[in-house]
Amino acid sequence: MEGVTTPDFRGLVLSRNSSDCLGGATTEFVRVVDAAIPVAPLEKALGCASKAFGRPVGLQIMGSNLEAMAETAVNAAEAGAPFVDINFGCPAKGALRGMAGSSTLDDPRRVFALVDACARAMAGGSVPLTAKIRAGGEDDTLLEDLAQAAEDGGASLLTVHCRTRKEAYRDTADWNRLYRAVQSVQIPVCGNGGMDTAADMDQMMAETGCRYAMIGRAALGNPWVFSGHRASPREAADFLLEYAQMTSGSQTKQSRLKQLLACWTAGGPEVAGLLGTHRRPWLRVNDDAHLRACLDAAGDLHPSPLDLPPQKQPSTQMRPI
Ligand SMILES: Cc1cc2nc3c(=O)[nH]c(=O)nc-3n(C[C@H](O)[C@H](O)[C@H](O)COP(=O)(O)O)c2cc1C
Repeated sequence: MEGVTTPDFRGLVLSRNSSDCLGGATTEFVRVVDAAIPVAPLEKALGCASKAFGRPVGLQIMGSNLEAMAETAVNAAEAGAPFVDINFGCPAKGALRGMAGSSTLDDPRRVFALVDACARAMAGGSVPLTAKIRAGGEDDTLLEDLAQAAEDGGASLLTVHCRTRKEAYRDTADWNRLYRAVQSVQIPVCGNGGMDTAADMDQMMAETGCRYAMIGRAALGNPWVFSGHRASPREAADFLLEYAQMTSGSQTKQSRLKQLLACWTAGGPEVAGLLGTHRRPWLRVNDDAHLRACLDAAGDLHPSPLDLPPQKQPSTQMRPI
């Protein structure tokens, strides 16, 4: 998630969920304006997670310039991306001003043109192209047309965030739209939106026929959300400590870690409580030693087993991407 997650975070999340629960991930979008992005920054965006955890981490690109997008898609494959994904869902003002992301949802022909340009440029290679749309722009009336435009353009998988651009990130998410998308294309559909637990993923796939399910924000506070494992305070603290170590020396990375702390729930109230108490001073002094002390204290907490509900067994269902 652009502005929040990092390749390091993605790697840690992959490391905490087995491949039968978490089949892969996608990078934050790489913005393509009017010139193609070269291979080196794309390699950086991918990070090492793709290779380290044996699961696909696709590279997502977002833009409106057909030539620049097509060349970037080819460069992404050269950078080692196991698949390249085009973002048609971002509702941010910058994306809309640049006629990219969810601005394309008002005209399925633009979705087709972008997917088609990238697919043609990548033809002959072995790296699949995928697309991620929302259910529509102002409303969901074009949903089927948008899904078919992506398929006709050459996408081999379609992710559908079931909210429209207008609905942004509102609480309710209409899964019936996913059913409609599944019915309208032959390619596999990955459903996204409104899931907070592993059980929600199973339910979404069962109710809509989506082949895959993708969780976004719920993973920020609980990286174990894909397996349903209930992390102990020690496990949660260790995750954050490991991440804090990776962020040290980089202001950008540290600010992303701070965003995670603001929504952290894993490890239960003990960890959240300690972070709540110490979050503000830590933000002020910007001293990760302080965070370490808090987390070490959190990890030392041993709630009685009676306080913890039984752990959910990891689902055996594959959830790639
Ligand atoms: C801060 C933020 C950044 C996001 N960045 C991206 C992005 O770079 N690429 C993308 O496909 N979706 C991005 N999303 C959307 C999520 O991937 C997901 O589609 C959306 O949050 C709905 O899923 P959820 O209800 O599980 O969170 C972002 C969402 C948020 C809140």
